[in-house]
Amino acid sequence: MQTILQELEARRDVARLGGGQRRIDSQHAKGKLTARERIEVLLDEGSFEEFDMFKAHRCTEFGMEKNQHPGDGVVTGWGTINGRMVYVYSQDFTVFGGSLSETHAEKICKVQKMAVRNGAPIIGISDSGGARIQEGVASLAGYADVFQNNVLASGVVPQISVIMGPCAGGAVYSPAMTDFIFMVRDSSYMFVTGPDVVKTVTNEQVTAEELGGAKTHTSKSSVADAAFENDMEALMEVRRLVDFLPLNNREKPPVRPFFDEVSRAESSLDSLVPENPNTPYDMKELITKLADEGDFYEIQADYAKNILTGFVRMEGSTVGVVANQPMVLAGCLDIDSSRKAARFVRFCDAFEIPILTLVDVPGFLPGTSQEYGGVIKHGAKLLFAYGEATVPKVTVITRKAYGGAYDVMSSKHLRGDFNYAWPTAEIAVMGAKGAVEILYRSELGDPEKIAERVADYEKRFANPFVAAERGFIDEVIMPKNTRVRVCRAFASLRGKKLENPWKKHDNIPL
Ligand code: HXC
Repeated sequence: MQTILQELEARRDVARLGGGQRRIDSQHAKGKLTARERIEVLLDEGSFEEFDMFKAHRCTEFGMEKNQHPGDGVVTGWGTINGRMVYVYSQDFTVFGGSLSETHAEKICKVQKMAVRNGAPIIGISDSGGARIQEGVASLAGYADVFQNNVLASGVVPQISVIMGPCAGGAVYSPAMTDFIFMVRDSSYMFVTGPDVVKTVTNEQVTAEELGGAKTHTSKSSVADAAFENDMEALMEVRRLVDFLPLNNREKPPVRPFFDEVSRAESSLDSLVPENPNTPYDMKELITKLADEGDFYEIQADYAKNILTGFVRMEGSTVGVVANQPMVLAGCLDIDSSRKAARFVRFCDAFEIPILTLVDVPGFLPGTSQEYGGVIKHGAKLLFAYGEATVPKVTVITRKAYGGAYDVMSSKHLRGDFNYAWPTAEIAVMGAKGAVEILYRSELGDPEKIAERVADYEKRFANPFVAAERGFIDEVIMPKNTRVRVCRAFASLRGKKLENPWKKHDNIPL
C-alpha cells in the first residue's frame, strides 16, 4: 500500500516539474512565473483542485511517443478567488513551448464545459507557441473545439484571458472571444502573423512588441483591456476584477460589505462644472466621488480616452459606469469610443450589472475620417447596446447632451429608468453658437445681433428644464447629492423586470 501511495506522489512530482528544471529556470530568467505558480497567485491559497494531471498526448509522429510530459503542457482545474469559484487553465511554456495538442485542447475544453455547466467564470492563462507542430490538423481541430466552447460560454459565464507570453496565429481567437483580455508589458504579445511574415508580405519592418505587445493592444487596437508590469500584478488585478463580477448570467453581481455612507454629500461637486461651458473638467473625479470608497476599476483606460468605462460599487453592489470624458476631445462620441462603450454596455447587460451613465457630450465627432471609417455603423453599436439593455439604467447629465449623442447616452427614450440632470445641464440639438449660425445666417455680419441671439438661445435651451417639463428628465438634482440619489435609484430598481421580444438573436450593426 505504502508503495502505491509513494508512486502517486512520485508521479505527481514529475508532473509538477512540467518540462523540467532547466526550462523552469529559463522561464524565471525571462521574469515569468510558471503555469503552476501563476495559478497559485491567482487563486486563494490551497484552493486549487487539479484535473487531468496525468493526461498524455497521443502523437506518434517525429518520435513524439518517447517524448512525454504528464499533463501535456497545460494545467487545468478549479479553485476560488475570495471564496468564489472559478475554473482555470494555465498553459505551461516549459512543455513543448505550451503548444496546443489534441489532448491539451481536450483538457481546456473540459474546464470550459464544466464552467458553463456549473456556472462559474473561466480564466485562461496563455503562454504558448500555438498549434503543436508535430500534430498538424489534430491540433487545429483542438483549437476549433476551444473556440466553439468560447462562443457557447459567451454571455453565460464571464471569460477572462490573461496573456503572459506568446499568443500568435489562430490562437489569438480564443482570447479574442472572451470578455476581458489582460496582458503583461514586455513579455506578452498577440498577433495573427508575426513580424517575419509581415516583412515578407507587406515589406513593413516591425518588432514583435510594436506589432502585438501590450502597449499596442491597449492603446491602438483595443484588443486588450489592460496591461500590467509583471505576472504578479496582472494576476492580482484579475482577482480584483472577478470580485466585481457575478459568477454567471443567472446570478446577481456580488454584494460586498462597504464602508462608506450612502448619503455622503460632496459639496465639491457643486463647482465641478466650470463657468465656461468650453472648459474641460475631469469626469473621473465625479466617478470616484460617487463610488463606494472611491474605488473605480477602469476597463480600457488607455484606449478612446474620450469615454470612460469600468466598475464601481454603490451600496456594495457592482455598477458598470460609462461616462463621457470632457478632458479628451471634449468628450465627444466617435468610432473608437462608441465601440469601446458598446462592448462594455453589452457585457453589463449580459451579466445583470446595472449601468450608470454620466453624460457631458457635445455630439459625434465630425470629419471625413470618421465618416469613411463608418461612424454611422459604429455609433449605432452604442445606441443599439443601450436600447437593448434591460438592466437598471440610471443616467446623470452634468453638462452638455447635444444632438444624437443625447439620445444615445442612455436617454429616457432608450428606456432609461432614472434620468437625472444637474442644473448645469444643456440639453439641446446643438450648442448655442452652432444653432444661431444656422438659424440666423443672414445676420452673421452683425456680431452684436448674433451675440444677442446666442444669449437668447442659451437662456431658452441651455438648461435641463425644457427636457424636465416633458418628463424626459425625471428630476434636476443638486450635484453634491448625486451619490445618494443614484444609490437610491439603483436600490429602487433591484426588482426590475423587463424583457425584450423573443428572437433567435439580434443583429447588432457589427
Ligand atoms: C511544438 C514548440 C512549438 C510548437 C515552440 N515549441 N513552439 N513545439 N509546437 N508550435 C517548442 C520548441 O521546440 C522548444 O522546445 C520550446 O517549445 C521552446 O521554444 P523556443 O523556440 O526555444 O522558445 P523561444 O525562443 O522563447 O520562442 C518561442 C516562440 C517560438 C516564439 C513561440 O518557439 C516559435 O516561434 N514557435 C513556433 C510558433 C508557431 O509558428 N506556431 C504555429 C503558429 S500557427 P525545446 O524542446 O527546445 O524546449 C498556429 C495556428 C493556430 O498556432 C491555428 C488555430 C486555428
